[in-house]
Amino acid sequence: MPRIAYVNGRYTRHAEAAVHIEDRGYQFADGVYEVFAVYEGRLIDEGPHLDRLARSLGELRIPWPMEREALRVVIGETVRRNRLSFGTIYLQVTRGVARRLHAFPHHPAPALVIAAQRMNRPRREDFETGVTVITIPDNRWDRCDIKSVALLANVLGKQRAIDAGAYEAWYVDGAGQITEGTSSNAWIVTKAGAIVTHPLGPEILGGVTRQAIIAEARNLQIEVRETPFTKADIAAAAEAFLTSSSAFVKPVISVDGVAVGAGRPGPVSRRLHARYLETLKTDGETA
Ligand code: PDD
Repeated sequence: MPRIAYVNGRYTRHAEAAVHIEDRGYQFADGVYEVFAVYEGRLIDEGPHLDRLARSLGELRIPWPMEREALRVVIGETVRRNRLSFGTIYLQVTRGVARRLHAFPHHPAPALVIAAQRMNRPRREDFETGVTVITIPDNRWDRCDIKSVALLANVLGKQRAIDAGAYEAWYVDGAGQITEGTSSNAWIVTKAGAIVTHPLGPEILGGVTRQAIIAEARNLQIEVRETPFTKADIAAAAEAFLTSSSAFVKPVISVDGVAVGAGRPGPVSRRLHARYLETLKTDGETA
């Protein structure tokens, strides 16, 4: 079955899907995006993703490409036409096509692209081995709360991780605090069993998975601290993990080659991951 994408009002074969060369996303990275997980055919956390999309569009003064309800229909239809059981939906809105001038076009017509990406059903082993992380200086701009397609620093950071044999790179700011990963939020678990992650603000993307984990942790009576942590805090931590819509909850077993805690996935990360998978099985909205 061919992959189908939605491009500016039309469903088209993925292989032939294309945008104009003067799309401002292409020329200026003048656009925003969302990545939704699809689990057993259900779109996960659609509401929070669309809320964040609204916020990103508002901050950049890009108009909605269509009404929110219509957008939900198109996203659902993209899942359906791809018969997607497990994978992700990538949605991008740019300020549209215009003659190349930095200033906003007078009559913006935002461009909308939605694509589906198939993945295998997540296996238990994927989450039980844990992943490794390196740290790198945070060299991004001061609005990391906007889910902008301008991801060059993140691309370079992720490649540094891959080149070092690691799964992810965690950004360290000028004060020595870990902000987040190149495509995920960063967490530690203290020896006392509290989970710690950077507070919301311009330094990080407010992850939808981050928010879901905070809610799950509270349900499980796990203390949640939204406060910055440093490399010294990682050295003193019992566990670490990362979260994102495509990675879910992944235990982190070493940072910069140094084992975190016992150097294997710990009980709190595993519990949160198991709990999160349960919510994916039951809470997802039917696409
Ligand atoms: N990335 N921080 C950054 C910089 C991210 O790019 C992401 C997500 C997150 C986690 O957000 P969420 O839980 O809402 O997925 C945090 C997506 C998955 C991506 O770019 O592929």
